[in-house]
Amino acid sequence: MPAGSTRTPVVQLENVSVYFTKKKLLGPQATVKAVDGASIQVGRGEIVGLVGESGSGKTTLGRAAIGLQKPTGGKVLFSKEEGQVDIGTLKGRSWRQMRSHLQIIFQDPFSSIDPNMRVFDVLRIPLLARGVKDRRKVEGMVSDVFGRVGLPTDVLSSFVFQLSGGQRQRVSIARVLLLDPEFIVADEAVSMLDVSLKGDILKIMKTIASDLHVGILFITHEMAVARVISDRIAVMYLGNVVEMGSADQVVGHPLHPYTQALLQASPTIDPSLREVLRTVNVKGEIPSSSAHPSGCKFHPRCPFAMDKCTDNVPELKEIEEGHLVSCWLY
Ligand SMILES: Nc1ncnc2c1ncn2[C@@H]1O[C@H](COP(=O)(O)OP(=O)(O)O)[C@@H](O)[C@H]1O
Ligand SMILES: [Mg+2]
Repeated sequence: MPAGSTRTPVVQLENVSVYFTKKKLLGPQATVKAVDGASIQVGRGEIVGLVGESGSGKTTLGRAAIGLQKPTGGKVLFSKEEGQVDIGTLKGRSWRQMRSHLQIIFQDPFSSIDPNMRVFDVLRIPLLARGVKDRRKVEGMVSDVFGRVGLPTDVLSSFVFQLSGGQRQRVSIARVLLLDPEFIVADEAVSMLDVSLKGDILKIMKTIASDLHVGILFITHEMAVARVISDRIAVMYLGNVVEMGSADQVVGHPLHPYTQALLQASPTIDPSLREVLRTVNVKGEIPSSSAHPSGCKFHPRCPFAMDKCTDNVPELKEIEEGHLVSCWLY
């Protein structure tokens, strides 16, 4: 079993890269290394937080994890009872069967749901796709997931556009649950919600993981959110996982200077930790994705950079049990 998790993985990314080629009218083509050799695994019932600044490759990695984005390198393995399958090799019917078990929830539920539909019809579609047609059965399953996401059944006859932001996100979670998921990517799923709603949705996601044994890759740019929702946290910088460990390890004992900087910027961090992090001043902005720095990609911004960081890429190494970092300081 790969380092960092004691659970049976439901989805495992092995050295996954996703490169995009930008076509330019003039000059050479630019390659955007959105994901650049990332390995990550999510166990059944486990929530892994994926944290990093905008542009670090989180969404692309999440899309690759459910087969929406074909990797340019590496592979994505999905565990079934019979063993692991490389989802890149599946086609046709076997792919469609697999597909419904791998789901995604977006930041803006409006982007994935037709606002002019009635909620009941939104929810009936996934069930029809699964061959559930009997009205009583449909109603039973819908009322079950409504209980899980905390929606009253009178919302069923509303139009989607009549719902509040929080209700819409609950409906989009309900819809995903009706597809019988085994793995869910939540991509900034609470970023548009205010604090109290955020808490509600995070609680729902936690219960989904623990009660339904769904693995969740929870993408967020907010360290504070990752901290409350995650069993483990992976920190991403310019296409690479630079640190990974239990939420307690990563938040309580951050190793990578980039993780330390993210925590320092996080508004709800313990004052005691803030004191420790005070000295980590990260220079400048995240570099352009088509011109990654050599060596450790973080070195131009790192207050602790040494000579060897300029040319040598640090490997992701296990420093303490389950806690990995790629940094020459260790
Ligand atoms: N379809 C695409 N074509 C070209 N570049 C892309 C595409 N999708 C993402 N990128 C680039 O890849 C990098 C990572 O993007 P993304 O995965 O969205 O990061 P994040 O979710 O962490 O903000 C960015 O520089 C982005 O511009
Ligand atoms: Mg994103």
